[in-house]
Amino acid sequence: MSATENPAVPDDLLEPSASADPYPALHELRAADPVHWSEKHRAWLLTRYDDVSAAFQNKAFSSDRVRPLLAARAERPDQPEATTAVLGLMASWMVVSDPPAHTRLRKLAAGAFKGQGIARMDGMITRIVDEHIDGFLRGSGAQDLIEHIAYPLPTTVIATMLGAAPEDRDRFREWSDELALVAFGAGGTARAERHERALRGLREMDSYIRELIAKRRTDPGEDMLSALMAHDGDADHLSDDELVAMCALLLFAGHETTTNSIANSLLALLRRPDQLDRLRREPELIGPAVEELLRFDGPIKVLIRWVVAETAVGGRTISPGERVHLVLAAANRDPAKFTDPDSLDLGRAPNPHLAFGKGIHACIGAQLARMETRIAVSRILARLPELALAGDPQWKPSLASRAMETLPVTHGAGRTS
Ligand code: HEM
Repeated sequence: MSATENPAVPDDLLEPSASADPYPALHELRAADPVHWSEKHRAWLLTRYDDVSAAFQNKAFSSDRVRPLLAARAERPDQPEATTAVLGLMASWMVVSDPPAHTRLRKLAAGAFKGQGIARMDGMITRIVDEHIDGFLRGSGAQDLIEHIAYPLPTTVIATMLGAAPEDRDRFREWSDELALVAFGAGGTARAERHERALRGLREMDSYIRELIAKRRTDPGEDMLSALMAHDGDADHLSDDELVAMCALLLFAGHETTTNSIANSLLALLRRPDQLDRLRREPELIGPAVEELLRFDGPIKVLIRWVVAETAVGGRTISPGERVHLVLAAANRDPAKFTDPDSLDLGRAPNPHLAFGKGIHACIGAQLARMETRIAVSRILARLPELALAGDPQWKPSLASRAMETLPVTHGAGRTS
């Protein structure tokens, strides 16, 4: 590609200032070169809403990105066992599969989600949120809202849904962290160590879920694992390996994202007292408010696709073998789609944001994620009327997610109920 075709715009999405606030640079990139080849990321960066939205339907863009890595490793027997084991688990995840493999997995998972009756889970989620707020209220001074509330909630919910015993739920959190270390973690010298940790966690999780499967086979319950196993006699039923991988995916996909959805939402509100007061005065606004908070600073910044057929986007030719980054954070702030996109307007309607993706891979846990975010934000605002920021948050240097390390806050006195 020649320099004239590829304008020199800042495109390092991992730079510290871009991690802290990616939006000014993304506006610049979208305005100067909306379909941009980045040498830094070795990928095309798509930043316009219409291009990102269309990309979800474009069959030239494949999600099948773990299987090729696994196949390449087979040629290189010197690779660490840990990495291969982690990739082996991830290879059958629907999120990194194309049809027809994806279609089969998605159908089975969608059936299990439906059977859970997410709409009836508000009581269970409210109870979990309130327990964590109680714990937070027992502390004083500056405390991390992520550690106390946003982080433990999603794994507790998913472990409960999968039918794990209450005393085992904390272990799900550790396993999810270990998987995240491999998927998003540090490189360099930390690499071998993190893969070893992940392998240990993976083995523990594997045997725990297999024991749960054995129990459910003789004694099925109302839980999601039992629902996933209900097809045992059917031709397209999930093998035990696939069941383990599916549980790991649900845990992994629903954890960091929901934690960051809650944390980013509270940060956005605490930084905008007018909108915070508005939500306190009009709590019934919580539905559209959560949509706007997901648009404004959603937990997923970038989704990755591999190109499997030549395709044109915005006058650029994108070739097989290249990589494409769908920059959701840019699409959701595109002024061509959203009026005054950098303003948080809790009543914004319509709000066709792309925080949950679109098309065949659109988030299968979106209803649950929305409910968890709604309940967490509502209960925190209702029970912590003096909640205030106690310092600037530190953002993780991540390409894929928009995630804070900590969110230091004080709660004043708070309410016990
Ligand atoms: C606010 C929180 C969440 C956000 C922003 C989010 C976002 C997304 C996005 C953007 C995708 C599309 C990925 C792609 O196209 O490559 C996705 C897929 C997925 N999400 Fe979520 N998610 C959230 C919470 C959850 C929860 C709570 C669960 C389950 C418990 C979950 C399970 C999944 C699964 C299994 C997929 C793959 C679907 C498929 O490939 O067909 N997510 N999510």
